[in-house]
Amino acid sequence: MDRIQIIGGKILDGKINISGSKNSALPILAATLLTDRKFTINNVPELSDIYSMIELLNSLNVKTDFKKNRLFSKASKPKTLIASYNLVRKMRASFLILGPLLARYGFAEVSMPGGCAIGSRPVDLHISGLEKMGVKFIIKDGYVRGMIEGRLKGCEIKLKKKSVGATENFMMAGSLANGKTTIINAAREPEITDLGNFLNKMGAQVKGHGTDIIEIKGKKKLNGCKFKIMPDRIEAGTFALCVLGCSGQIILQNINEVVSDHLQKIFLPIKQLKFEKMKKKTELKVYRDSPVTLSLKMKTAPYPGFPTDLQAQLIAALTISKGISEISENIFENRFMHVSELKRMGANLILDKKKVKVKGEKKIFGAEVMATDLRASSSLIIAGLMAEGKTLINRVYHLDRGYENIEEKLKSCGALIERIK
Ligand code: UD1
Repeated sequence: MDRIQIIGGKILDGKINISGSKNSALPILAATLLTDRKFTINNVPELSDIYSMIELLNSLNVKTDFKKNRLFSKASKPKTLIASYNLVRKMRASFLILGPLLARYGFAEVSMPGGCAIGSRPVDLHISGLEKMGVKFIIKDGYVRGMIEGRLKGCEIKLKKKSVGATENFMMAGSLANGKTTIINAAREPEITDLGNFLNKMGAQVKGHGTDIIEIKGKKKLNGCKFKIMPDRIEAGTFALCVLGCSGQIILQNINEVVSDHLQKIFLPIKQLKFEKMKKKTELKVYRDSPVTLSLKMKTAPYPGFPTDLQAQLIAALTISKGISEISENIFENRFMHVSELKRMGANLILDKKKVKVKGEKKIFGAEVMATDLRASSSLIIAGLMAEGKTLINRVYHLDRGYENIEEKLKSCGALIERIK
């Protein structure tokens, strides 16, 4: 199994091309199920989560050709409308095919995602919203089976909690429903805006994406289209946090104004992490040229708040800042698996329910550590870059779910990082 080896202590300096957004590409790929027309989708990141989604689409008779970040696809009528455990277990986002399949075929049977059970990592919001659209569900043997005669019914769906995935499932379902669907308390993430723009390019009538209220006027048929996936704000934020941890500068390339503004806003409390707009609007310089001395209080929140997907990396970057910081996790329970691994590197972290207290140390030290999930993996990369000595990261397949060529990108900025067998 591949491992990543890092010799820490290098100041970063270079340019990095930010890849297309994983979290935008996944629902957009699921949305291609809504029609039998052809798609050309550009800027699709080459990641294992994307390959998992493509494999799932292929099993539903979608023909695909994916090369050099460009995906051609065409969905023909599937022989089966069952998405098996083997394909779905790898990734929670597989559940995003539920809305499109029900909208187009009136039937879908999808395994509960990634070992989830309703309760601990629930899909209850997805199900109750689709029920309002007329779907009858049976949940049995680890599968969710949904059925409806005729078209889905447009309706008002009020989310009791903001959910990115549920909002996306309803947007896709609503695009082929009979009548108007209104999503109240919708998630507002830029990836939702990207999906809304994609659906509109397919001929859907989606309004208000990017706000709390999304309105969709259902169409009988949708078209194919050509589309470019937005840049990955979480990848860009991860590199910004590499700079916070290691000092130096990185010019983030291939981003857009939304990502640029978002990064500057979420990192505003971190005074030593500075940004400079470049002549090209697609570039943003992030740099740190003074020691980090701060005591921060930050909490994760739905967009436009600080993303939960950057919480682990923020904690890693703060391990050698002078001061005591408190980082609270408000989106997912148990998203602190990186804490024990970072502690093995000498980080002074105290976990208290939903909060981690970070007491900055003078140094942290390289160690052999284990990646436990996607964002925990990138926090270990940051810690390895900051640490004195050698860090070996095991189970890097987690990293390959969400970061395209991360070693090459960091190497080009002077990091001593290598993938070893
Ligand atoms: C998406 C992102 C993930 C990010 C998360 C929060 C993708 C592919 N993944 O995940 O990277 O960390 O948003 O920004 O875009 N919940 C329920 N019932 C449900 C659904 C969700 O209670 O039916 C809860 C979840 O347990 C969580 C919260 O709602 O506490 C937010 O989850 P959600 O926004 O749905 O996350 P995902 O769409 O799975």
